[in-house]
Amino acid sequence: MARQLDSATRDALVERVRFYRDLGLTEFYRRPVNAAIDAAVEASEPATAAAEQSTFASSPEETAYLPEEQAIAPRKPISAPPLVTTSVLASGDKAAALQLIRDDLGDCTRCALHKGRNKIVFADGDPNARLMFVGEGPGADEDAQGLPFVGRAGQLLNNMIAAMGLKREQVYIANVVKCRPPGNRTPEPEEANTCSPFLFRQIDVVRPQVLVALGATAATYLLGHRQPLAGLRGRVHAFRGMQLIVTYHPAFLLRDPRQKKEAWADLQIAMKELGLKPPKPASGS
Ligand code: URA
Repeated sequence: MARQLDSATRDALVERVRFYRDLGLTEFYRRPVNAAIDAAVEASEPATAAAEQSTFASSPEETAYLPEEQAIAPRKPISAPPLVTTSVLASGDKAAALQLIRDDLGDCTRCALHKGRNKIVFADGDPNARLMFVGEGPGADEDAQGLPFVGRAGQLLNNMIAAMGLKREQVYIANVVKCRPPGNRTPEPEEANTCSPFLFRQIDVVRPQVLVALGATAATYLLGHRQPLAGLRGRVHAFRGMQLIVTYHPAFLLRDPRQKKEAWADLQIAMKELGLKPPKPASGS
């Protein structure tokens, strides 16, 4: 007999199941979930689709950036075995859950970027981090080492993290795409839409309190639509129960260091949300 759920639990479950369906993941919830949840998800979908449509179509300026069909292209179902992450996650072992996602990614050939890569760049940092950074995709140094943000932009990111009073090992860092785009070009929508479900799964496991999107590509694929960075910076966006802050990509800050002040203002918003105070300068400095 179907179990009765209170309305808050039911709403949370509907949201959760819809989230996974957005990612193309369906197998894992078929067995245990209350039939009423399935029905509620079905019922909630047309409204969501309509709302998304109107958001994406709302500004001619946005659609000039990215054709609408690309902006709203549903993420492709991942060709992977049934998701077991949820049961591992229930054990509270986030590192193990992330390893399952990495195993699922395998020696990925899902998009053309695999042809030019040396190493897949999955992530770096603490699976239990309260703060997560999302970049665009690996560059040459990252492709060589298999770790995100280890080149010049990475050094600047390390400095930004230190300015927040944290160590790099205390945060979690990942990218929209896990293989280096040729010549460090921006990932194509096809590539980003193929790879980003893995990022979403990583985010869902780490569940940081605050996510920082570094640059327009990260902001676009996290928020699901493209908008100029200026309109996204300087505030907290609600993102699947987490707080998302958008700021400049460190590579851009290397090209235009005058914008570092603006990026610092964004990071201070993140710090406030996390209850962090900047470290005191060493005495005498
Ligand atoms: N730029 C990114 O967006 N990610 C990296 O990992 C390195 C540089």
